[in-house]
Amino acid sequence: MIDRRALLAAVPAFALAACERSATAAPPAPTVRPLKTVAPFAVGVCAKTGQLNDPAWVELATMHFSQLTAEWEMKMERIVGDDGRLDFAASDRLAGFCEARGMRLFGHTLIWYAQAHPWFAALPADRFAAEYDRYIAEVVGRYRGRAVGWDVVNEPVSEDGSGYRDCLWSERLGGVDAYIRRAFDQAREADGEAVLFLNDYNLENNPTKGAAYLRLVERLLKAGAPITGLGTQSHLDIEIPEGRITAFMRDLAGFGLPIHVSELDASLKGGRLDTRSEARKLAQQKDRVVELAEAFMALPAAQRFAFTAWGLRDSDSWMRQRQDGAGDPDDRPLLFDDAGRPKPLLAEVVKVFGG
Ligand code: G3I
Repeated sequence: MIDRRALLAAVPAFALAACERSATAAPPAPTVRPLKTVAPFAVGVCAKTGQLNDPAWVELATMHFSQLTAEWEMKMERIVGDDGRLDFAASDRLAGFCEARGMRLFGHTLIWYAQAHPWFAALPADRFAAEYDRYIAEVVGRYRGRAVGWDVVNEPVSEDGSGYRDCLWSERLGGVDAYIRRAFDQAREADGEAVLFLNDYNLENNPTKGAAYLRLVERLLKAGAPITGLGTQSHLDIEIPEGRITAFMRDLAGFGLPIHVSELDASLKGGRLDTRSEARKLAQQKDRVVELAEAFMALPAAQRFAFTAWGLRDSDSWMRQRQDGAGDPDDRPLLFDDAGRPKPLLAEVVKVFGG
């Protein structure tokens, strides 16, 4: 007589999960109306030039989205060469793609603590500020009238929300408020029309960090910084309690500025001892993404700048390729599956946006 318990105990957890997943095979892809024809505001997706060579990506992205954010090729890491010269080949291609297809281009990102470029770090003190100003002026100026907005400064708040990140820019330009204010002033001078965003992540997930971001915005606005848009990346932690997303969006809306859900994804990856069933994780993912979509939809129309997904298909997600090892090759954080089929999650978002 086979002892089923002993047999099951011998089966590694991941094999069971795989069986479970196959047992709960994906439901047939829902037929949904194109997101951009339903949403009464811009819907965006991040893009890299390699994807512009993929006809399937191009067809799906242009069908559903009205705005592109450069996933990495409008950042210093791609534009600034080792000798400090600026290379716009990739960013120009993205801009040209948007213009050819009547899509909005969103510039991401000018100044980021995580990209303290070595060329800048090597500059002597008497050149640093001028080169900082010149970089922003050249990049924003190049896309004046072509980029609808910019993440001028990305992720200024410390990981745990206890303060604000020290970085090359704050160290060399007189502190956190100083480098941020300088970046916005330069961007405004270079493009009087573009919406200028302060962008950060985990603002919904971590109320302490969200509160620190709101305090920083208030302080900078009071000092006269030309911040004209607020970006919340929304890399959602699907295990946060109901209501946290709604509460943050309400507080964010209090400034009366356009809001960009700028990098939505909702990872299914849990911790090492994750015992949630597949169905439980998918339900949590749906609940939190729907809460975000509803909170965004509830904003006054003038404050709904754009709702952007950080990747088109699950296979495009940065979470699959994370260099920090925290990725999961099976993660499914986005609105379309690996084959580009709409997922039930997309149908839920379309429903919220009016489809
Ligand atoms: O494509 C090149 C490849 O040709 C080259 O061999 C390789 C090694 O240099 O680099 C490849 O480019 C990488 C690119 O992703 C495309 O995969 C870059 O090195 C790598 O730095 C870049 O990572 C991006 C990361 O930001 C840093 O820029 C991720 O795609 C992107 O998803 C991630 O996005 C960030 C947001 O900007 C800010 N919020 C968090 C979000 C996730 O980290």
